[in-house]
Amino acid sequence: MLKIVVLISGFGSNLQAILDAINEKNLDAEVIAIISNRSKAKGLNRAREQNIPAYVIPSRKNQSREDYDKRLSEVINRLNPNLVVLAGFMRILSEEFVNQFTGKLINIHPSLLPKYKGLDTHQRAKDAGDRQHGCSVHFVTPELDGGPVIAQAIVLIEKNDDIASLSAKVQEQEHKLYPLVVEWFANKQLELLEDKIIFNGELLSKPHCI
Ligand code: GAR
Repeated sequence: MLKIVVLISGFGSNLQAILDAINEKNLDAEVIAIISNRSKAKGLNRAREQNIPAYVIPSRKNQSREDYDKRLSEVINRLNPNLVVLAGFMRILSEEFVNQFTGKLINIHPSLLPKYKGLDTHQRAKDAGDRQHGCSVHFVTPELDGGPVIAQAIVLIEKNDDIASLSAKVQEQEHKLYPLVVEWFANKQLELLEDKIIFNGELLSKPHCI
């Protein structure tokens, strides 16, 4: 069975969507641990409620990114998961860390990548006058939000949308998209070959769209 470690920093609604899919038996996987860089992350309560081991790894003052990531990777390597899922983990990861988990490290990002890497994606999509926005699940590579995109979900930006309504629309899609992509891993349908995605044994020429 696919053993997953989920990294969070905040609310953990994407973590919850994955746990729901497992509990509803739509996803044959086990979340073996949750790791947060913030002790107050609400998502940690979700771990406690379900008796899932939770680790808080706070960053220390003056600690380098490399040192933090070394501690993080030590904990993950001890857990020995098949897949590491970034679900609102709001830290930039060092190249050394990312390279250790090539092909088994994925992230969800609230934009239609390659558009709007980084922060404030809803505001930037709105300011640009975009009609479409959404979320992407991608393999993590050393380039921030730059790894090969596995799948995306699109939402329409209406004239009366504000950041709150847009964010809610995107999150609704995230909660469908992330468990689905994890399911593909559980079914061994997905693989990263250098910088190419192989889906069901064939090259994925463009991201899946749900
Ligand atoms: C999600 O919307 C996710 O796309 C975003 O953080 C949110 C976490 O929500 N991630 C990023 O911005 C990463 N660059 P959650 O804690 O409720 O799952």
